[in-house]
Amino acid sequence: MTFNEHLDRWGTHSAKWDLLASPMGREALSLSVADMEFVSAPPVVQAVERAAALGAYGYTEVFDDFRSAAREWQLREHEWDPGAESVRFFPRIVQCVAALCHHVLPPLLGRRPRIMTLIPAYGPILEVVERSGCELIRVPLLLEDGNARMDRALVEGALERADLLLWCNPHNPCGRVWRTEELEFIGRAALEHGTMVLSDDIHADFTRPGRTPYTPLARAVPPLWDSGRLIQCASPGKTFNTAGLEAAAVFAPGALGDHLEAAKRSMGLHNPNYFAIPAAIAAWTRGQEWVADLRHYIDENLRFAVETLHGRLPQAVVTDPDGTYLIWIDARHYLPHRDSLTAACGAARVAVSPGEDFGDEYAGWFRVNAALPRVELEAGLHRLVNALTHPPK
Ligand SMILES: Cc1ncc(COP(=O)(O)O)c(C=O)c1O
Repeated sequence: MTFNEHLDRWGTHSAKWDLLASPMGREALSLSVADMEFVSAPPVVQAVERAAALGAYGYTEVFDDFRSAAREWQLREHEWDPGAESVRFFPRIVQCVAALCHHVLPPLLGRRPRIMTLIPAYGPILEVVERSGCELIRVPLLLEDGNARMDRALVEGALERADLLLWCNPHNPCGRVWRTEELEFIGRAALEHGTMVLSDDIHADFTRPGRTPYTPLARAVPPLWDSGRLIQCASPGKTFNTAGLEAAAVFAPGALGDHLEAAKRSMGLHNPNYFAIPAAIAAWTRGQEWVADLRHYIDENLRFAVETLHGRLPQAVVTDPDGTYLIWIDARHYLPHRDSLTAACGAARVAVSPGEDFGDEYAGWFRVNAALPRVELEAGLHRLVNALTHPPK
């Protein structure tokens, strides 16, 4: 199977298709939820098939082979050694954030924790923080010339107040891969103000040839890692299209790792899904070549999509991402009312992720997912452009 082949995921209980695209009918095209319209790497598919063939799906545990696979991937792909001791299993990164907000920070601080994040940001993580009762400090990214940028004074001011920074690299939805000097700025400020940092690097494997390379915050700022106040999160979920199997590696040193482990048990997350571990190990030990090919395919898709959107929606601000497979678009010029996007996309039968999913203030923005066969991307963009330039009356 190549990246050009069509994959039919209707009728699989898919969030992207059976829930979100289904109101538009079976003719719909979806550029929404961040999973890919590609079959996973052959070693991953084989590992899941082998596990399924057994026919008995009992309780599963985490062993050293998972920990060394997670560590080796970081070493080989990202030139960073988290050390074997720091590797902790979490089913999902969102749950790791929930563990921090509900079970680690409140007893540690003895008061309501203050959690800072750059917005726009991945919605379910914002929701977890808000539902936990922690205070959420939202620092907007600036979008200029199609590139997201931090306002350093704002970031520094917020870091001074915050107990925890939720950092995202590459950033969803803006696609920014943070440069070393930006990471150094964040690391220095966090150290200075005693702020704990969780770096959510779920999109780390999606960078583009010739563009800013991905650097883990822990590698850019070793003193931050050595301080025991940095959590690095990795996952095969986006890279290998295995989000539904729920396996993530959370790298957290020393006592912080122990706190997270205890919090995980408080949440009843004490052992993984039967398929999670064999899939993650196969991905991280035998998936490298497949990912290299995928990266090239996505790069071309992004190039094509950004060109098309620039050319055909000249009044929109379109990011040209260095990382992820996502494009963040300010289309307020074409979307005069809060519900215009839903009406236009519904009529054109194309689904995208609405801006409000990333922060209430982003009505009129949306995110496009470019991880699908090129002809389908072309067709989806064609529908999208028509939807915005010829909206329903
Ligand atoms: C930045 C970011 N973090 C976390 C997640 C979800 O990760 P998980 O399924 O491991 O909770 C996503 C999914 O799209 C994401 O984009």
